[in-house]
Amino acid sequence: MKTTQSLTALALICLQALAATAQAGEIEVLHWWTSGGEARAAQSLKASMQAKGHTWKDFAVAGSGGDSAITVLRSRVVSGNAPAAAQIKGPSLQAWASEGVLTSINDVAKAERWDELLPKVVSDQMKYKGDYIAVPVNVHRVNWLWLNPAVFARTGAKPPSNWEEFFAAAETLKKAGVVAVAHGGQTWQDLTLFETVALGVGGAEFFRKALVQLDPAELNGATMEKVLSTFKRIKPYTDRGAPGRDWNLATAMVIKGEAGMQFMGDWAKGEFLAAGSLPGKGFVCTPAPGTAKAFIYVIDSFAMFKLKKPANQAAQKDLASAVMSPEFQEVFNLNKGSIPVRMGMKMDKFDDCAKASALDFTAAAKSAALLPSVANGMAVSSSVEWAIKDAVSQFWNSDKMTPAEAMKKIASAAKTRP
Ligand code: BGC
Repeated sequence: MKTTQSLTALALICLQALAATAQAGEIEVLHWWTSGGEARAAQSLKASMQAKGHTWKDFAVAGSGGDSAITVLRSRVVSGNAPAAAQIKGPSLQAWASEGVLTSINDVAKAERWDELLPKVVSDQMKYKGDYIAVPVNVHRVNWLWLNPAVFARTGAKPPSNWEEFFAAAETLKKAGVVAVAHGGQTWQDLTLFETVALGVGGAEFFRKALVQLDPAELNGATMEKVLSTFKRIKPYTDRGAPGRDWNLATAMVIKGEAGMQFMGDWAKGEFLAAGSLPGKGFVCTPAPGTAKAFIYVIDSFAMFKLKKPANQAAQKDLASAVMSPEFQEVFNLNKGSIPVRMGMKMDKFDDCAKASALDFTAAAKSAALLPSVANGMAVSSSVEWAIKDAVSQFWNSDKMTPAEAMKKIASAAKTRP
């Protein structure tokens, strides 16, 4: 009896293994997660696909908040050689879908009831004409300020919660000979800093009207002028090495104590953690001045491309399912610095920055202070985003341009055809 049972069990295992091999496909994923913390997070995705018997083909393109990756992706898709999935987000999902190159993953989404597991603002964005064409990975918060508490203690600077305190702290740090603000002068980082200042100085309603709805009256108004002058006031607190610097090298300056602060989304937290720096000890997260109750979000997602081989199509569906699983949502986001996008997840393994982020996300959604990041591809078409990025960076880098002139440039950039 026992032997028959174990034989049956053995046969079952063999059958399952056979099925897995028959289904095993190749999964190629384009992403730009190449920094220390990002790579650790990407590794967890690779591991979960390999555990399902699939071959993982990494298609990582470093640099500039994904700008280079998207250029490479475009040429691959145009030449009929798309990867299974690519890190695409926000309005660009709709743009790619309208070109007819994405595939529906509705069967997985329906079977797993994604509509019930995702906030509506997220599921709407993952769909094109009612079909899921992408799977969301996480929720990042952009409006964070990262501090090195040892540098603050050593110099006597006080952690800021409003702009006045921020400039006082920056002055103290500068006088003590440390770089007050670690910055990377790339257009997407300039705009990431700018949008954070826009929220902190102008508030959520201004942010939405000016930067999401691109309302000309707001873009040319007095609040915009104040935002621009506050933004420019930060520049003297950055160092000469800033132009061109990658964001993770700016984070490294804070980790090493060469700099006191960095404005950056919470992918920076992944970097602190990967370097062994602990929350509350090696680094402190605090909402950027004036933004405590608001939340600029980035939702990373994978768009699914049309594939020819059935085995690869099956692997692609496994990828979609794995990304939404509670296990993956936990381990990936612990490494990435973000929070799970799947609702109802336990947060007990997450640190205080992530717990605060989860609470603030829900609260901000209720108070209309949940805002899509312009700098990180969530708010406007990519052509408008590029035009605004360029205008903001020109102002940041110029010694002569006045806020009034910058306003004109930005307002005209906002009129770029989507
Ligand atoms: C993405 C993050 C990424 C960061 C830096 C952001 O736009 O949403 O996932 O870590 O860029 O590369």
